[in-house]
Amino acid sequence: MTDTPRKIIPLADLRYASRVPTVPALLPAPTGLLSDTLGRPLRDLRISVTDRCNFRCNYCMPSEVFDKNYAFLPQSSLLSFEEITRLATIFVAHGVEKIRLTGGEPLLRKNLEVLIEMLARLQTPAGKPLDITLTTNGSLLAKKARSLKDAGLQRVTVSLDALDDAIFRGMNDVDFPVADVLRGIEVAQRVGLAPVKINMVVKRGTNDGEILPLARHFRHSGAVLRFIEYMDVGATNGWRMDEVLPSSQVIARLQAEFPLVAIDPNYSGETAERWRYLDGGGEIGVISSVTQAFCGECNRARLSTEGKLFLCLFASQGHDLRALLRGNYADAQIAAAIGPIWQARSDRYSEIRAALPPDAGPAGGAKRVEMSYIGG
Ligand code: GTP
Ligand code: 5AD
Ligand code: SF4
Ligand code: SF4
Repeated sequence: MTDTPRKIIPLADLRYASRVPTVPALLPAPTGLLSDTLGRPLRDLRISVTDRCNFRCNYCMPSEVFDKNYAFLPQSSLLSFEEITRLATIFVAHGVEKIRLTGGEPLLRKNLEVLIEMLARLQTPAGKPLDITLTTNGSLLAKKARSLKDAGLQRVTVSLDALDDAIFRGMNDVDFPVADVLRGIEVAQRVGLAPVKINMVVKRGTNDGEILPLARHFRHSGAVLRFIEYMDVGATNGWRMDEVLPSSQVIARLQAEFPLVAIDPNYSGETAERWRYLDGGGEIGVISSVTQAFCGECNRARLSTEGKLFLCLFASQGHDLRALLRGNYADAQIAAAIGPIWQARSDRYSEIRAALPPDAGPAGGAKRVEMSYIGG
C-alpha cells in the first residue's frame, strides 16, 4: 500500500492568522489529549460570550474606564453560536470536559439558551456529557434560570460581594439592589441549577466586613460560598496588595464563629480550596490566587468573545481562532493548529507574581487583557 501525499497548507494562505504561531503543515493527527510544557492537560474551556456587562464592579470594569465612550466589540466581531459550538467540539476532542460560559455578563447575550442547547449535545470521547456551567452577576437570573435549566445548563456560579444593600450597590456601581440577586439565587436553586456557587471577591477595607454576614446567610442553604482574593487581573483596576485580604485571614475570621475542617478537592486543578462547617452547615471555599498560586495544575483555556484563544487569565495576547473559522479551514486543520498551541504553553503568571516582593505591583511588561473581555 502506498501513502497518499498529504495536503500541505502554505502558511501564506492563513490570511488573517497572524497571531496563530503554528499551523502544522501535515494532516491528519488532528486531535487527541494534550499536555503543555509543564505537563498540564487541557480540561476546562471558558468561553466569553460578550464583553459587555450591566455592572461596573470597580475591581473588574471601573466606570471611569468602561464609560459611554468605551469601544466594546462590534456585533460582527463576535463568534456566532455555530462558530462557538464548532470550536467547542474540537476542544472536546482535545480533552475538554467542562465548559464555562462567562463574559462580561453572559446573560446579556441574546438567545444564550440556544447556545446552551447546542453545547449540551456534545459528549467527551468516552461518551460522557460535558459539565456545562455559567458565571453570572445574577441580575437576570430570576427571569432566566428556568429557561437556562431547560436548555441543558447544569449549574451556575453567581458573583455576590455583599449582603448589605448599600455596600452591594456601591460595589456594582450601578446602584443594583442585592435583593434581586438573592432572588435570582433562590430561583436557580429551585429549578435545580445546583449546586449554586457564590463568588465573593474580597477587598480589604471595602467589603471584608461582609464575610461573616454572607457566611451566615448561605450556611445550611445548599449553596457553596467562595471567597476570592482580589487579583491584579487586567490593566485598569488599580490593584494594590494592601487591598488583598489573604484567604488564611478569611478562614481565621470564619473559624472564630464557625469551626471548619479542610476537605479534599473535587478534582485535580480545582481553583478553590474546600472547607466544611463542622456542624453540618455545608461547605465553603477560598480561591487564593495571590497568596497561594495554583498554576501548577491549571488546565484552563479561555476563548474570548471574538474568538481568540488565551492560555492564561493574565495573558497579553491570544491566538486568533476566528481567522481559521472564517478562513475556510476544515475542522481537522483547526484541531491541528490548536494542539501545538497548548503543547507550547508555559504560562504560570500567579506563581511568578507571588515570587516578587509584596509591594512590586503587577508583574510583566505587556498590557494584560481585561477579565471582562477574556472571561473569568
Ligand atoms: P468550579 O467548576 O465550580 O470548580 O468553578 P471554577 O472555580 O473553575 O470557576 P469559577 O469561574 O467559579 O472561578 C472562580 C474564580 O476563580 C474566578 O472568578 C476567578 O476569579 C478565579 N479563577 C478561575 N480560574 C482562574 C485561573 O485560571 N487563574 C486565576 N488566577 N484565577 C482563576
Ligand atoms: N479579582 C478577583 N476576582 C475577580 N473577578 C472579576 N475581577 C476580579 C478580580 N480583580 C471575579 C468576579 C466573578 C468572576 C467573573 O471573576 O467576582 O465572580
Ligand atoms: Fe460585570 Fe462580573 Fe465584571 Fe462585575 S465582575 S463588572 S458583574 S463581569
Ligand atoms: Fe492558570 Fe494563569 Fe491562573 Fe496560573 S495565573 S492558574 S496559569 S490562568
